[in-house]
Amino acid sequence: MFADKVKQLAALPTPCYVYDTALLAQTLEAIQAETAGHPNYHVHYAVKANVNPIVLKQIAAAGFGADCVSGGEIRECLEAGFTPESIVFAGVGKADWEIKLALETGIAMFNVESVEELEVINEMATALNIRARVSFRINPNVNAHTHAHITTGKAENKFGIDKEDTIHVIRLAQSMPNIEFTGLHFHIGSQLLVMDDFVALCQNINAIQRELDEAGIYAPNINVGGGLGIDYQYPEAHPIPDFHAYFTTFAEGLKLREGQQVHFELGRAVVGQMGSLITKVLYVKHGHVKQFAIVDAGFTDLIRPALYGAFHSIDNVSAEAEARATSATYDVVGPICESSDVFVKDYEMPETRRGDILAIRSAGAYGEIMASGYNCRRLPKAYILSEL
Ligand code: LLP
Repeated sequence: MFADKVKQLAALPTPCYVYDTALLAQTLEAIQAETAGHPNYHVHYAVKANVNPIVLKQIAAAGFGADCVSGGEIRECLEAGFTPESIVFAGVGKADWEIKLALETGIAMFNVESVEELEVINEMATALNIRARVSFRINPNVNAHTHAHITTGKAENKFGIDKEDTIHVIRLAQSMPNIEFTGLHFHIGSQLLVMDDFVALCQNINAIQRELDEAGIYAPNINVGGGLGIDYQYPEAHPIPDFHAYFTTFAEGLKLREGQQVHFELGRAVVGQMGSLITKVLYVKHGHVKQFAIVDAGFTDLIRPALYGAFHSIDNVSAEAEARATSATYDVVGPICESSDVFVKDYEMPETRRGDILAIRSAGAYGEIMASGYNCRRLPKAYILSEL
């Protein structure tokens, strides 16, 4: 779809995002095909990756649940058609109004990250005379192989409750009249491509479950979080992540108790490959040491390269560029007044000229949603590829 439509991109006001909802549909189908044999598997889309209303509606209509981390995300999800019973709510710092909204909405469960938060939820549920469904986010102390800023499951990270305290917090919850203990939640990091990290998570969960057995505690729900990565190097070759390997890892690795439901919170793997940031080349500057392709998108539009050193492959999609025989090496940079405003360094591309249109690929997750207005820049708009 993307390749068929590139000609239309030249007409769009840049910088902007385009979303390939046909690829999104195929991705959702691929997840459904892999989970069809497991009626106890529930996939909640991690809404933080992209809240474009068309994208959200499509995911809701396909029957997925949602993983939210704020009251704002809960509202967007309800608007898009997710049912309250399909929404899980995580986050280390839930504000009182967000807890109240979640309680009144009747979401599936809170993923609680501290005893302090549990106490506040109990107080607020008591005041509303309802029972809050609560799972505990346990920090399994697994070292995931990814960027330090997106690893979350180590003891030094701010997330979750130390695994040594698991039984203590469950007992505490069970003693609170307005709390219903619903299970355990984990999330070890993002952009994970090594299945061994998920194997390690399963082993940790199995060990915790053995301790729960000994304590006579049953956890009805096990939420393994998200984290499955995508191929940023070759988005054309791998538009859909390896969901077979992912779900098989959990099917083989998790030792479940009778009736346990397993929840997944996939974000990037669902929407990452369907999005591109479209930008126009403003100038090609020939320095003594480097050539710069200066584009009209900056880190205000896509912060991942500046923040995590992330790589995004870039295509020159201008019709004219195809006819040019030579290629050259460029630093592709934005207009923001900071040295970190670089999309890629020393990147070989077909010869690039002023006015060319570039597609920065694999930008469907954590792209538009992390945009800012720094330098008084406008937020990028988004378009649906099939509607161009
Ligand atoms: N569940 C929890 C509790 C999370 O914290 C996250 C992501 C997810 C699920 C979804 O993870 P995913 O399947 O997308 O890997 N902005 C960064 C990624 C931050 C991820 C934060 N948490 C980036 O651009 O790489």
